[in-house]
Parts: sequence; C-alpha cells; structure tokens
Amino acid sequence: MFQSARTLLCASLLTPLLATATPATTDNVQAAIDWARQQPHLHTGKPTSKAQPLIIAHRGASGYVPEHTLSAYALAILQGADYIEMDLVMTKDGQLVARHDNELSLTTDVAQHPEFSDRQRTQMVDGASMHGWFSEDFSLTELKTLRAIERIPQIRPDNTRLDGHFEVPTLQEIIDLVKNLQLSQQRVIGLYPETKHPSHFQQLGLAMEAPLVEVLKRNGYDSAEAPVFIQSFEVDNLKTLSRLTPLPLVQLLWFEGQPYDQQLQGNTLSYTQMITPAGLEAIARYAAAIGPEKNMVIARDADGSLDPANTTQLVSRAHAAGLKVHPYTFRAENSFLPVDLRSNDDPQAKGDLAAEIRVFLDAGIDGLFIDQPDSAVRLREEP
Ligand code: G3P
Ligand code: CA
Repeated sequence: MFQSARTLLCASLLTPLLATATPATTDNVQAAIDWARQQPHLHTGKPTSKAQPLIIAHRGASGYVPEHTLSAYALAILQGADYIEMDLVMTKDGQLVARHDNELSLTTDVAQHPEFSDRQRTQMVDGASMHGWFSEDFSLTELKTLRAIERIPQIRPDNTRLDGHFEVPTLQEIIDLVKNLQLSQQRVIGLYPETKHPSHFQQLGLAMEAPLVEVLKRNGYDSAEAPVFIQSFEVDNLKTLSRLTPLPLVQLLWFEGQPYDQQLQGNTLSYTQMITPAGLEAIARYAAAIGPEKNMVIARDADGSLDPANTTQLVSRAHAAGLKVHPYTFRAENSFLPVDLRSNDDPQAKGDLAAEIRVFLDAGIDGLFIDQPDSAVRLREEP
C-alpha cells in the first residue's frame, strides 16, 4: 500500500502519474490554484519525514471553503494534506462529479435557476424519500452552470462569502489539479474518491464503478502502489471494484444499520457484524482499510466527553486482519467536538481539535479524514 505520499518524491512513481492525460480544464485548475495561494491557513512549516498519520482532506479544506470545489482541494494541498477526498455522483450523461449527495440543492444554487425548476421532484434514494434536484437529471453541461454553496452555513457562516463563486468539478478536473500541484509542490498527492449511492446509480443504468476505474486508469492510477484509495459504504460495489482494479479499497463503516446494497438484497449483514474479527477478515479479502465513524474507535462518555478508557477493540482487530484504519470526520468547530474539548458554548467557535486527534493517534489509527487539514499537518510536525 502507498504510505508516504507526503515525502515520496520517487521518480519512478511520479513519472507515470505526471506524464499522462492532457489537462482539459487548465483555466479552472489554474484559477483555483491562484485563488488558494492568496488565502490564509497555508502551510508554512518545513516538510516532515513522518508519514503517520495519513492526512486526508475531507471534501477538500472544507472547513474554510465550500466543499468539493477545486478551490477547496487546492487549499487543502497547499496546507499539506497527503490525500484529498472527493465524494462522487453521476450525471445523466455518465460523468463523475464531486458532490456529497446526488440531491443538488444542498450544495449548489440550483434552486435559484428558473430554467431548472421543472427538474424538481421527489424520489427514493438509498431507501429514503428525497425531494429536490438530482445529479442524474442533469447533463454535465447543465450542471456546470450551477455554482457551489456552503453546506452548513449555520456552523460555517464565513464560508458563505464564497457562495456562487465555484463550479462543481469533475473527477478529471480534480486529477488535473492534483497533477499540476504535484509538480509545483514536488511531492505525491493522493486521491481518496468515494462512490456515493452506488446501488441507486446502478439501478438507473449509471453504474459508477467502470467509469471510475476508467478515469483513474487513463490518468495512470492502475496499480496497488498508486496513491489512491477508493471507498464505499456498500459492500458489493467494492467487491466489483476489487475485480476491476488493483487500487486499494476502503470499506466505510457506520455505527448501526446495514450497507444499503445488503438491505436491498435482503441480506442480514450489518455494520455491527462487519466489525467482529470474522467480519474484518471478510473485509480484508477485498479491501486494504476501513473507514469507521470515529466514535466506533473511541466511544464518547454518556455526557459527550472523550475518554481514552473508552477505546474499543476496532483498531487492534482491524490491524490483526491486516487492515489500516482511517476514521472520519475530524472537525474543529465546537459543535463537532467532544464536550470536554469545546472552547465555549458557541457551536461555530473552534475548540481543541489537536487534543482530540492526539487521543486518536494514541489509539493507533493510521490516518484521518479532516475538514481543517492544516491542523493535522501542524500536529504531525510537532517533535
Ligand atoms: O468518506 C469518509 C466520510 O466522508 C464518510 O462520510 O458522509 O462525509 O461522505 P461522508
Ligand atoms: Ca466521503
């Protein structure tokens, strides 16, 4: 498995990754990089030789910029993230774009576009009724007329200053951005794509797995050593991916319920069963890592505090099965922190994220998804 994206400048690895695919979107990519270079929160420390923990910028530097935008990814990379994470959904014409949900009004200005008002509808997505505008009803050309907005303005009001500024990027644009910054930063930057709603898209005739593998392969990512992890909450699409690509795969885990594909098929497999020793051994047959919700690694006290005494057996069991552990999601705002690490009663204010991360590092995690990657980079550089 690729472990040291931060420090590896191995020519044999960089060369194929940098040589392929002519960027089709130079303007968007360069504009995002130029914008990010003007921002505060850039990484200014010296590079460290430490490869642990792997710092995965969750939806980009989404604590500072509306998520899943080229600018959020550029800032994350300039902050020193090892990998950038992108959730992927499909357009009507089979293109992979970065959005957390196929419902577009949560993170774009689609509701302000009268020309798309008749696309609004209600449908079932992963067993739940959803109302809004859906990516599968839009061509890429149409989707490119939308602009990103902040997903959680009540927690991140500062980010709303950027509402309406940035496009929804394609996976190819994100790769173009990464390749550009790999050259200027002189380091390998990894990709951490997640297939969102894979059964839903498969039922629509828009299966994501082959297009994803094709885009990655076209860009030189096609070996077990390539700096890519592909993640999913579902099981069967990861097994499909394991047959299509040697790239490392990550089984995402939730603390209750079932993967949606298992529910669809009438199977009994639950997330609780998947974190037993036998369940983890089964995951290790198709995946290289697990991505658990962080409370599955250290359960919070009844009052919401973080206590290392509540460390579960998940990390040790996963390691025994040969799986790396990359929990999600570390966020600096009080509303997401354990109560004992909050700075005050303001849900928007920043608390002691570094203290939370330290406790999780002591629990043996191998990497972490984080909305403010600069915080983890600074912590990793501590002596
Ligand atoms: O992929 C890790 C984490 O992002 C999973 O949750 O909902 O933020 O995609 P979500
Ligand atoms: Ca994700």
